[in-house]
Parts: sequence; C-alpha cells; structure tokens
Amino acid sequence: MDALRRKSSTYFGSLLTQRWSRRDFVATSSVAMAVAGTLPSIASASAPSRSATRTFRAVGPTRADEILLSPGLRHDVLIGWGDPLFDNVKGLSAKDIRSLAWLDEQAAARQEKQFGTNNDAIAFFATPGKRNAGVLCVNHEYVSTELTFAGLSGDSAERSRNRENWIRSHPHAVAWMQATHGVSVLNIDRGLRGWQVVRSGAATRRITANTPMQIMGPARGDLLMRTTADPTGTLALGTFANCAGGKTPWGTYLTAEENIQDYFGGARSWATSSDDDLTKLAHQRWPLRERSAYGWEILDARFDVRREPREPLRHGWIVEIDPTNPASAPKKRTALGRFCHEGANTILTRDGRVAAYMGDDARFEYVYKFVTRDRFDPKNRAANLDLLDHGTLYVARFDAEGRGEWLPLVYDEKGPLNRRSGFRNQADIVIKCRAAADLLGATPMDRPEDVEPSPLTGRVYMALTKNGDREFRLGDFNGRDVDFSPNLANPRPKNDFGHIVELVEEGDDAASTRFSWNVFLLAGDPRNTQARFLTRAEDALPGQLQREDTFYAGYGDRAQVSPIACPDNLGFDATGRLWIVTDADEELIGNNGCFVVPTTGPDRGLLKQVMSAPVGSEVCGCEFTPDGTTLFLSIQHPGEGGTIENPASHWPDGRGLPARSAIIAVSRDDGSPLWRGILAPEFLRA
Ligand code: FEO
Ligand code: CA
Ligand code: CA
Ligand code: CA
Repeated sequence: MDALRRKSSTYFGSLLTQRWSRRDFVATSSVAMAVAGTLPSIASASAPSRSATRTFRAVGPTRADEILLSPGLRHDVLIGWGDPLFDNVKGLSAKDIRSLAWLDEQAAARQEKQFGTNNDAIAFFATPGKRNAGVLCVNHEYVSTELTFAGLSGDSAERSRNRENWIRSHPHAVAWMQATHGVSVLNIDRGLRGWQVVRSGAATRRITANTPMQIMGPARGDLLMRTTADPTGTLALGTFANCAGGKTPWGTYLTAEENIQDYFGGARSWATSSDDDLTKLAHQRWPLRERSAYGWEILDARFDVRREPREPLRHGWIVEIDPTNPASAPKKRTALGRFCHEGANTILTRDGRVAAYMGDDARFEYVYKFVTRDRFDPKNRAANLDLLDHGTLYVARFDAEGRGEWLPLVYDEKGPLNRRSGFRNQADIVIKCRAAADLLGATPMDRPEDVEPSPLTGRVYMALTKNGDREFRLGDFNGRDVDFSPNLANPRPKNDFGHIVELVEEGDDAASTRFSWNVFLLAGDPRNTQARFLTRAEDALPGQLQREDTFYAGYGDRAQVSPIACPDNLGFDATGRLWIVTDADEELIGNNGCFVVPTTGPDRGLLKQVMSAPVGSEVCGCEFTPDGTTLFLSIQHPGEGGTIENPASHWPDGRGLPARSAIIAVSRDDGSPLWRGILAPEFLRA
C-alpha cells in the first residue's frame, strides 16, 4: 500500500504541474487507474468498436412532449404520482385530478399508500443474489400546486395572494401535501414486460413529512433542537424538500433535505417580537420568510415560526433510511451539516473509511465533504449503521493554480471555530454550518448540485447548475458580504448555462485535505458560432469569458458535441462514463434530458445527449442497475408552465390529460448494458 501511495503521489504531483496539458492528462490517466488498481474488469466485456462512435445518433435539442431516446434505446414508465404502492389501495389517475373531488378527508390517508408527487432522486438496491429484483428508494421533493390542484392560477403571484383563503377553504390540503412529500420505498422485479412494481412488497413503505425520525450526531439533544412537542431535541417529525440523495457502502439510502425554507411562515413577525437571540442567530444565514410557499403554517403550528421558532432547525439535514428494514426509524445525520442539501455521494477512503461529497444548492454557497472517523466493515453490516455520526465535516476552498483545500468545520478552542467566533459547541457548528464555512473562507460556488465521485478513478465531479447573479461586484447576500465576481472555479459571468468542476484528491485518497481541480465543462450551445468553443482549460479565465462561451473538457470538435444547459444530477456507469441529467429553463436550448460523456481517454469531453424529456420537466435520478442494463430516470414536474386546465404537457398518460411526474426505466432493445454502442470507450484499452 505504501509503495502504491508513493507512486500515486508522484503521479499527482506531476499532474499538478502539468494540469493544463490535455495530452499529458489523457496519457497519465490510465497510469493513475493502473496504480490505483482500478482498471475496470468490465473493459473487455463491454467495449464496442470505434465505429459505434461514428454511427451513434444523439437526440435533441427538441421541444417534443415525449421521451425521445437515441436509436437502440427504449423506455417503460414504471410508476407515477398517485399509483398505489399497496394491494387494495385505490390509485389517483390523471383523469381524477381534473377536478378536486379527490381532495377529501381521506386524501392524506390514501396518499400515504400511494407514490408521491414530484419524484426526484432514485436509488436502486439489488436483492442479494438476484439480477431481476430489488428495492427502489425515491424522493418526493415538493408539490407543484398549479399542476396538482384544479382551479389554481398559473400565475404564482396570484396563487400567493390567494393562498390563505384557498388553504382555509380546502382544509384537507395541508395534511395531503404533508403525506405526498418524503420518500417512497418499493419493491420492483423484472419479468417479460420489464420492471414492475411489486405492490405490498416486503420493503414497501412511505416516509412522509410526519414520519417520526431520530436526530443523531452532534446536534442530538442540543438546545436549538428542542421544541414544545420534543423537549429532548432527539425525535423529529418528518422529512420534506427531499431533493437528490445517495447510497452508503452498507446499503442504506441517504435522502437530502434541500429547500426547507419554503415550508415555514411567520418568520419576520417572530423576529421583530422575539428576544430569543440564540435562535435568531441560528436562522441568520438560512433566512425564513413571513409567508411560506405552501401555507402549511396556516393550519399546522409546527410550521409557524412564531409558535415553534426552532422547528426549522430540525430540517435541512441528510437523512439515512434502511431499505431492508421497514420498521426502522429514519435517522437525521447531523454530523453532515445543515444546509440546502442536494445529495450525498459516498466512496471509500484508502484506509477504508467513508467519504460523502455534498453540495449546498443555493447561489454563492459551498461544496462539502464528510469523512467518517471509523472504518467501514464489509463483513458486519450492523457495525456500519451509525458510522455517519462520527467524523469530520469539511468545506472546500478552491485556490488559484488549480489547488484547493478541505477546511475542517470542527469546534476547537485553539482554532477558528469556538465561543469567541460565535459557536457554543460542535452542535452549533453543524446547525449554523453556512456561517461556520463563511468564517473559514470557503469558495462561494454557482449553486452546487450533485457532487459525485467516479467509482473507477476516484475523481470527483460537481455540477454547478447555474448562477445568473455571478457578476463583477461586491454585495450583501443572505446575511453576509459576498464577492459576486467570477473566480477561477466559477469563471463565467451571468452563468445561466452552468458548469462542471473536476476534482482530484491528493494521493488519490478521499480522506485528503488537499486537492487539485479544473473546469471540466462550461455548458451551453456550441452550435452558436458567435460564441467561443474553448479547447484549452487555461483559456477559461474569469474576466475573459462571455456567458455563451463553452468548453467540453478539451474536446476539439464543436460539431460533435451536444448542447447542454444546467447540469443537475450525475451518475457513473460501470465503464466510468459520466451521465448527466439537466434542470434548465427550456428557453435556453430546449427540453431537459440525459447526457453521457467519457471523462478519460481520447473521447474525454465528447458529450452526447441520449434522452430528451417531456415539456416542462426536469430530469433527476440517473441510477443504474448493477448489471448496467437499466437506467432509472425521474421525470419531475412535466407540464411546468401550464395548469391542470391548460396542460403544457400530457405526459405520460396522453389523451389530452394533465401530466404527472413519473419514473422511467431505460434499457437497450437487445437487453445488453446500456452503454454498449453509445460511445467508444478507447480509454478502456489505453
Ligand atoms: Fe432540488 Fe437542487 O434541486
Ligand atoms: Ca436537483
Ligand atoms: Ca447522483
Ligand atoms: Ca436544479
């Protein structure tokens, strides 16, 4: 191991000095993989011929209201909002939602046994020893009210003005909305007709905004976690705003609580009348509003900050769910910090501990990493179940010259985070995580969404989805002074198209506190010949870039790559290619979709669109079965921009019906692994 490490350090040392040379990068990448012992064994089994690249046909950009796929791929709709998860439960159909008759006093109870709205992250857990059975965990992030409740205006200002009247005249709506949030856990199996839901399967359950869950880690029991209903600060109710997620090496699901600020009301009137400075300080860097987005506070005191000012602090965490044990309570892992969590993607460190990479999806927020104190034990699952309660949380600082450092968010009398700087203990640091990260000098990024390590190379890819406010000026933003100016890691002004940064941990070890990095992708439309298509990373410099300029990891031919906007969720296939799904304004390029790009070898940066999604939807998920023959994708909020009465999309039910969010299973016509024939992986033979 030591010899390997020395070689590996030498390699990365030379990488740092030569980081701008694509030829060197490509030439040495296979060396790095060989040194790390990570050359994929699947190489010979799945490598298609070079001619596959030439014959491959990308899709899009389109504005078609359907799922379009590259030739050779097909899809099935697996499950959508309202479909029953249990036997003897009535489903809610696209026809039903054309009126509000379904929103009766039993609506919440029914929804607790149905698939929720706005599916986001997907995790697949294969049943041990079986290729054709497994469990899916799926997030239900929020309710698009205008696509759910018949009669609501498509104008959000008008909906906001009428919210209180509407909530009071539809008294079952709040309980129903709480029941549709959270997570669905469901058994699926694959037969002649593809993947099907197994109703009332052994793992099946719904976790909602009211499900009891344990508060674990440093914030457990802290003053700021205590409420009227839970004076011990140990037992929270529910999870909501569940955006992306991740999996642990021991087979549990991590769901990420993101925009929880949309769920609480009364914050301004509370702040002007309360002298609870401790709680006010805790909310400072994650401000709440006077009126929530959904009006739950009108009927449920738990969401009224005037009644329960500390309840919001019990949300905004990573929550761990054991899909193998439906009776187990989900656990909020407070050691991983509190912020707008997009997801948490794990990989083992060289000494067998676990690192989780995480983004805080808001403008000018940060990228984080958590490294466990203890090692993963592959032979003893039970011993791993609370690994995420102890370890070190870091935030990233991206320096000039492509270096960077992970800064520890640790309470230390001799360090920068302690009573003198405004933190009582480690609980205070994880609860006020953003404020602690500010003090350490972390780099404000362009909305960090998925941060995903490649299981083959260990390199980490972070989707910086967009930031239209990136411009040359200083300002005040969400309770702090921010330099809005482009920086090396966020180099483009008015970054409406987003970008991806690639990070290499020093010593090829996820436990390292130092790293090197480079811009991997500046998204946009390379067909726009008025804009530059950069082929050298050293040209991607702040002050020299325009909004429309693009860079595809050094790939040299703009005619060969697909346009792409606003990367959001990321995934890897077993050959190490990066899969990207998008969440962009359709005006930018066209409908959102799914894309694939090699990260090593001569085709590094040859990005192709393989799927285009229905009108108004974003695509989330991006989860493969272990055999690579199925890719699950989440189609979230199809029809956004329309209403129930005037649908902008009729997907997936067609026949003029309103749209429903749903999950699709993508496969190849011949049933072989999905990546076959899509792009030629020369890097596998390098
Ligand atoms: Fe819910 Fe960051 O997207
Ligand atoms: Ca997302
Ligand atoms: Ca992902
Ligand atoms: Ca997004």
